[in-house]
Amino acid sequence: MTSPSVFEQILDPARRADPYPLFDELRKTPVARQEDGTYVVSTYREIVALLHDPRVSSDRRNLATAPPQEERTVSFIGLDPPEHDRLRRLTMHHFGPPHSPGLIDGLRPEMLAITTGLIDGIAGKRQADVVDEVAYPLPVAVICRLLGVPQEDEPQFHAWADQIIETLGPGEEDRAERERLRQATGLELERYLAGLAEVRRGQPGEDLLSGLITYHGPDGAMTPQEVVATSVLLLIAGHETTINLIANGMLTFLRHPDLLERVRTDPGLIIPAVEELLRYEPPVQLVSSRIALDDITIAGTTIPAGSPIVLALAAGSRDPAHLADPGRFALDRPRNEHLGFGGGVHYCFGAPLARLEAQIVLSELIRRLRNPRLVTDPPPYRPSAVLRGPRHLLVDYDGVA
Ligand code: HEM
Repeated sequence: MTSPSVFEQILDPARRADPYPLFDELRKTPVARQEDGTYVVSTYREIVALLHDPRVSSDRRNLATAPPQEERTVSFIGLDPPEHDRLRRLTMHHFGPPHSPGLIDGLRPEMLAITTGLIDGIAGKRQADVVDEVAYPLPVAVICRLLGVPQEDEPQFHAWADQIIETLGPGEEDRAERERLRQATGLELERYLAGLAEVRRGQPGEDLLSGLITYHGPDGAMTPQEVVATSVLLLIAGHETTINLIANGMLTFLRHPDLLERVRTDPGLIIPAVEELLRYEPPVQLVSSRIALDDITIAGTTIPAGSPIVLALAAGSRDPAHLADPGRFALDRPRNEHLGFGGGVHYCFGAPLARLEAQIVLSELIRRLRNPRLVTDPPPYRPSAVLRGPRHLLVDYDGVA
């Protein structure tokens, strides 16, 4: 038996608490071929080049060993231009012009109200799990408000989201059963959203779902199936990622009490702090969905057409060839160019929403928890090497302001 490659070691759940020394090792071979023919790319410059390369596809149907054609409408994260761009533009239209307050900033009061309710909920205790009690419920609640899911349906919506996320992670046990459950829950969720979209078509509101279903523009309109696929994408893509950003953030602050104190006394610092978190402890560590459409030569290696490509975003954001002192968490980086939200045409659609959610929750936790202390370091992690974050984050504190 050959010894596991550096990349295989990164995938090993036993290494989840601190994969960064392995990422440092991985960067020594910027483009590393794995035994199964996958190419893993780990240096900043090469990752950026591939994120912007039209010869790199996000459509699984281009794999040399393509899975059987799926019946379902594919959401735009799994499509290439021009279809990707049409659906992304049709969705973006509802978020207002770039850099304007628009839909996201309008959600600020609701986000704060939800956060306040969650922190009030742990006020009577001396110990809480920041993952289950604060980070977990927030992103789904926000997506429900954004889409216009009626409040009485929110608990059901939460349950579906939980079930789908639960079945998404990698793992060998019960693979068939988990796949069956994911399909079944996915269908229920899709049926629910299709029904709600029909209601909104007859009686449009101010919400995103109404917008998606009624808007006609230069790109035409979305089909009802595309509306449902897009809504599900927004739910799934923004769920565990945001939970992990909040949990990784709280963990980092608790490990650096001086930093926590700085943000407490100067709350505006939460903005560079969240940006640095996306670089230093990124919720999306790997993008494992790319396929070479042509032979691509990069950093002296040729990736043959049809090969799967993994982009190790977490390694790229700590590349010393790109930035100084990458292993240090710093609030004063003049230009913090990181790969936390990916890049190119698939750059995270929800980045402004995710930033704002994390800024609000982390500020409120820092402001309100008195003398917070980490109970276990490292905390237990979820198994996924792709979406990395603590499964629980127990914190002791002396009351809540
Ligand atoms: C894409 C990260 C939150 C919606 C991506 C990608 C990354 C990412 C790395 C690129 C994937 C690729 O290139 O294949 C994150 C992180 C988040 C976050 C770290 C939280 C901290 C959200 C939220 C939403 C969202 C809240 C939605 C409300 C999307 C969508 C795409 C995407 C729709 C696909 C964009 C496209 O294909 O054009 N995200 N995301 N994300 N994200 Fe996020």
